[in-house]
Amino acid sequence: MLALDDVHAGYGRVQVLNGLSLTVPEGAIIALLGGNGTGKSTALKVAAGLLEPTSGEVRFDGVRIDDVPADRRIGMGLVLVPQGKEVFAGMSVQENLLVGAYHRRRAKAEVRADLEARYAEFPKLAAMRSRSAGALSGGERQMLSIARALMGRPRLLMLDEPSAALAPRVVQEIAEIVLDLNERGLTILLVEQNVAMAMAIAEHLYIMREGAIAFDRPITEGDDDADDLKAYYLGQSVG
Ligand SMILES: Nc1ncnc2c1ncn2[C@@H]1O[C@H](COP(=O)(O)OP(=O)(O)OP(=O)(O)O)[C@@H](O)[C@H]1O
Ligand SMILES: [Mg+2]
Repeated sequence: MLALDDVHAGYGRVQVLNGLSLTVPEGAIIALLGGNGTGKSTALKVAAGLLEPTSGEVRFDGVRIDDVPADRRIGMGLVLVPQGKEVFAGMSVQENLLVGAYHRRRAKAEVRADLEARYAEFPKLAAMRSRSAGALSGGERQMLSIARALMGRPRLLMLDEPSAALAPRVVQEIAEIVLDLNERGLTILLVEQNVAMAMAIAEHLYIMREGAIAFDRPITEGDDDADDLKAYYLGQSVG
């Protein structure tokens, strides 16, 4: 469904992605793991159209989308939940959700129905719909940024470290939400540093190192402390 093919990208003269290739098949949950600064977020930015690659191809449904602007990619169903649980702090929970449907704001009845669907999925947000988003906890902000992305009616949802800095119980809650969304047909590309969480729900993993894929393989049950991963993370920690 989504394919990055030999993508190079960076910021000015800083080269970050060095020939990154990965594919996300329709219906899957794919995990993209790797240490700090390996280029995970940069890869998602390229996929979302927020950063232009210097070379390589990005395809969605088999069609090259390199020239498609970010807002149109949302319309195509390719939606990013950025790192950092960012919400519009000065706006209410509901206003934040409506931002996620901005590109189809003219379809008022449809957007209203989707808003109610989000409140049904995230009852906590329903109870706080008029509250300022700046007053939410970290977990609540993560829920809100996921719900806001869902207002874009994604077909492929890219999540950038949704579990970061959250209590284990909340991480579990997020994992269940992601699984549930996937069961209802949403394809997921999950960037994580929480290896156990990612491997509990994903079916295939990609490990990034220095802007490219070091290795990738299917995930089998209970292999989140497999030797290849241990070796990779050990290699990371000693530099
Ligand atoms: N806007 C930017 N301008 C310049 N350099 C940047 C910018 N954003 C990221 N970088 C650099 O690009 C490299 C990769 O960053 P990226 O955010 O993709 O890493 P990451 O794998 O997502 O890391 P983390 O797990 O810490 O989020 C880092 O060296 C980072 O400092
Ligand atoms: Mg990142």
